[in-house]
Amino acid sequence: MLNFELYNPTNLVFGKGQIEKLPTLVPQGAKILLAYGGGSIFKNGIYEQVINNLKGFEIVEFSGIEPNPHFETLMKAVAIIKEQKIDFILAVGGGSVIDGVKFISAAVNFEENPIDILQKRLLIKENAVPFGTVLTLPATGSEMNSGAVVTIEATQEKLAFGGSALFPKFSICDPTVIESLPKRQLQNGVVDAYTHVMEQYLTHPHEGYLQDRIAEGILQTLIEVGPKVVENPKDYALASNFMWSCTMALNGLIQKGVPSDWATHMIGHELTALYGIDHARTLAIIAPSLYKVMFETKKAKLAQYGKRIFNLEGTEDEIANEAINKTVEFFHKMGMQTKLSEYTEDYSKTADFIVNRFEERGWKGLGERQNITIDKVKSIVEMSY
Ligand code: NZQ
Ligand code: ZN
Repeated sequence: MLNFELYNPTNLVFGKGQIEKLPTLVPQGAKILLAYGGGSIFKNGIYEQVINNLKGFEIVEFSGIEPNPHFETLMKAVAIIKEQKIDFILAVGGGSVIDGVKFISAAVNFEENPIDILQKRLLIKENAVPFGTVLTLPATGSEMNSGAVVTIEATQEKLAFGGSALFPKFSICDPTVIESLPKRQLQNGVVDAYTHVMEQYLTHPHEGYLQDRIAEGILQTLIEVGPKVVENPKDYALASNFMWSCTMALNGLIQKGVPSDWATHMIGHELTALYGIDHARTLAIIAPSLYKVMFETKKAKLAQYGKRIFNLEGTEDEIANEAINKTVEFFHKMGMQTKLSEYTEDYSKTADFIVNRFEERGWKGLGERQNITIDKVKSIVEMSY
């Protein structure tokens, strides 16, 4: 097993009705920026619950953080925090609102141009404004990790950043919030979390036996509850297991001591930046092609995955191939379309565009062995058409 440090200071407050603990979790006397998205929290009553539980606190609201949050929007919140001397941020929303708040938190005390946080991918280790979250959409794991992804509208770039100062102080995860989610977002959540596990699991065989078993447990749970929770989000057993699986998929635990890939995400982010395709759906487009193009380096792990998750039998090659088919089947069952041409007619130059961008950024080799070269990225994207 590789050496590792495990640091996760987020106080995860999980379960029905836990929002009542909000006044004890927010620092006493804090002036709060309440940040949220396009208004779903008004329709499902979460806004009211938050406000009722924060009586006596001074609150300034910042609304309109869009899905795949924009740098340009977030900078408006940075200005408000500076002007109004706000000392705590509460993110109420899904991954986009939480990621947006991570950027705001990092940018307020950043001395250079905050766009560098994204374009130079700087690590934020100090001077962040403290924040907590009320999660409304299980998917990204952002509620219990220190990473985020922000889009620069002006350049159509979607860039990841993070750092140890960007863990939420607390996250309230009440599984009943999923009752108001549209089917499409429930499907997205399952597939995003599934792919997070795959990015950290589907590499090559290693000595992190326990990490593999935990990862497989999350995959099996998502396969078991995913299709059902989409149909019945009011079932608390399904909702709570779905929500906890999403958090566990990307709170850092399963990636400790093992290699990880993340190329599906890096390529997928480009599809969102270019075409606005939902994050999870970009992963369902790219992942199967990536497994095929990188078959030789991934086949041992694909075979382990095929045996343990789908009970497949045969030679290593047969199991590995069939495991990819089973993954696509699962994505289809979760309502995903898995080809780029199913989302846009304007796809023929996508591979060249992405390859150029990666070259400009100096991304010459992605993946657990850094052998997903520019040529391989081109093949993966073209195979995804
Ligand atoms: O904006 P509102 O009105 O709140 O509506 C949102 C939004 O339109 C709606 N929604 C959220 N909770 C709801 C609800 N509607 C009804 N009932 C509720 N309870 O859902 C829509 C999508 O929300 P969004 O936050 O964009 O979705 P998600 O949580 O999937 O986040 C996606 C973003 O997270 C990034 C993605 O790249 C994307 O930008 N990721 C962040 C990661 C991280 N921080 O670790 C890792 C992921 O791989 C991912 O890249
Ligand atoms: Zn993701």
